[in-house]
Amino acid sequence: MNIIYKDTKIHHLSGNTYYFSLGWATIPFYVADRTHAIMLDTGLSSSAPIILRGMEREGLKVSAIIHSHMHNDHICGDLLVYQEYKPEIYGSETDLLDAVHTFEHRPPDSDKNEEEIIEIRRTLSLIEHRFHPFEKYAEPNSFMGAVHDPELPYTQTLNVLGKAFLLIDDPGHCLDHKMIVTPDGVCYLADSIMYGQRLDHSKIPYVYDLGDSIRVRRRLGALPFPEFIAAHSGVFSRDELEEVERKNLELSRIVFRHIAAIRAAEPNLSLKRSMDALYDRMSIHNYRDTSWLNDTVRQYIEYYDSHPDWEQQLQPVRPVWPVWPAWPRFRMPG
Ligand SMILES: [Fe+2]
Repeated sequence: MNIIYKDTKIHHLSGNTYYFSLGWATIPFYVADRTHAIMLDTGLSSSAPIILRGMEREGLKVSAIIHSHMHNDHICGDLLVYQEYKPEIYGSETDLLDAVHTFEHRPPDSDKNEEEIIEIRRTLSLIEHRFHPFEKYAEPNSFMGAVHDPELPYTQTLNVLGKAFLLIDDPGHCLDHKMIVTPDGVCYLADSIMYGQRLDHSKIPYVYDLGDSIRVRRRLGALPFPEFIAAHSGVFSRDELEEVERKNLELSRIVFRHIAAIRAAEPNLSLKRSMDALYDRMSIHNYRDTSWLNDTVRQYIEYYDSHPDWEQQLQPVRPVWPVWPAWPRFRMPG
């Protein structure tokens, strides 16, 4: 099935791991056997027709969806995919509850229209009703064997259709964001980092928790997998990983340098005026009234003020992972 379809855009990456390349997003899937596919996220609702067409063309059905996190650009494809295939839906319950809570208690951002808001509400309620939470279905990982590096993130194994996926904790982008590694060793980084054009054009990517986000990003270069997929967006190999990490950390460095200049000019500027000054300095005009951007920028300023060693905090850290693919317990028999 190593074919690229221009219309449905199915690309082969490695073993049984494939992906849809939609420009703004890269959506992976794993073919468990001749007919059953496991999606890793489903993108926006507009991604679903492309997924359905691709599956139909290959004689596949989506039997399961594993979610990296519950943001609308990763889950809203579920509605149509569910209508067609009734897959099992896996994800973090912690993250789902947080998404539902946020959605219900925070006024919608101005960058979302009425239709999108209805879609998100319907998707969240579908997931709530069909849910297979990691908290119940995933198991603490024992493949690490003799390696006990305290710098390594928490990992779990999730078995879906008899195939073992590795879940890696990354709480920087939302409360319980996971990177997902397919049985082929393809690491779907989801929104842990950005890649390609999205990275080049990004000024301040959204963070849920800046401290966690930095902690994860400065360790990413040590991930031992041969292939990587960034949700936004693209595919790259291990050779490029450290450069991708460097560029992602550089985004934060640029923001901190602007804040340093603002503080140098006027040390006691209030938080609100510091945020406005940062937007002006960085020529950010869009999304200034969205809570997600304001939350992110506020964290940058607070982090700067409480971390005189911020430059040091952006230096890469290299935890020692076991070498892929020598992880016998991660692999399922047969
Ligand atoms: Fe995303």
